Amino acid sequence: GKVAVLFGGTSAEREVSIMSGTGVLQALQSAGVNAFAFDPAERPLEDLRTEGVDRCFIALHGRGGEDGTVQGALELLKIPYTGSGVMASSIAMDKIMTKRIWRFEGLPTPDWRMVSSADECVHALAVLGAPMIVKPAREGSSIGLTKVTDPAQCAAAYAAAAQHDPEVLCEQFIEGEETTCPVLIVEGHAQALPVIRIVAPGGNYDYQNKYFTDEVQYLCPSGLDADEEAEIQRQVVRAFRTLGCRGWARADVMIRQSDRQPFLLEINTSPGMTGHSLVPMSARVAGLSYEQLCVHLLASASL
Ligand code: DAL
Ligand code: MG
Repeated sequence: GKVAVLFGGTSAEREVSIMSGTGVLQALQSAGVNAFAFDPAERPLEDLRTEGVDRCFIALHGRGGEDGTVQGALELLKIPYTGSGVMASSIAMDKIMTKRIWRFEGLPTPDWRMVSSADECVHALAVLGAPMIVKPAREGSSIGLTKVTDPAQCAAAYAAAAQHDPEVLCEQFIEGEETTCPVLIVEGHAQALPVIRIVAPGGNYDYQNKYFTDEVQYLCPSGLDADEEAEIQRQVVRAFRTLGCRGWARADVMIRQSDRQPFLLEINTSPGMTGHSLVPMSARVAGLSYEQLCVHLLASASL
């Protein structure tokens, strides 16, 4: 059958998606899959039907791709696709909704406030304490994100986040180690892959450092205690299942320095597949090449 790799799109992460999709497309083609590129920014999704596509690999990131909208369109077109369905995609895109559910279900996530003005941001800083992270509720790749330590920074931080999303999230900053952990469905069960520990210069794992520098150190195996690694893996599988995710995802987790407690920040339902990306890195440690990972994910495509 014919496979469309969906990438590009219209979100702020378009550039990242193009890097992810290019990699996925090449891998599928070299595995002998009849795959071609499809950019929803350039064509209506109905073209997938006229092209006779029978499965889609979603390598879109951000709104209009990772948020349930494309997933809903593919449901209506009855074309199976990789990754989470409509509801899990749209909840996971929204960090505030995600945190509400996790908190309700007893999963550890840093305290937060939803704010709709710079003044509320100042108030949130007083309540949550410094440092605090200010970010758009529905964005990715650290776009629009600021770490705030002083009330004087709140106006600029709020404006930077609100430029990307009217919903802005203030979140307590967890001082400690930054990790991320993929979840993959293997034989019907959600399974955590090896944890990756991220060591960024000055703790600054921002957009530039994520994709365009080689300044960041990625440790996989993580070097964490076996117990800590297992605890992170247990929490990310719970995080995945609680939201009803499907196929695969990658959850970002901070380990608090003081007591080594893990805190879930978010879960990405269409994780990056770029040359710098982390799911492929962790999969490789688990014995799965980039190409095998793509083939595995494609095989899990469903409606
Ligand atoms: N939002 C980016 C693509 C990621 O989480 O990998
Ligand atoms: Mg993200």
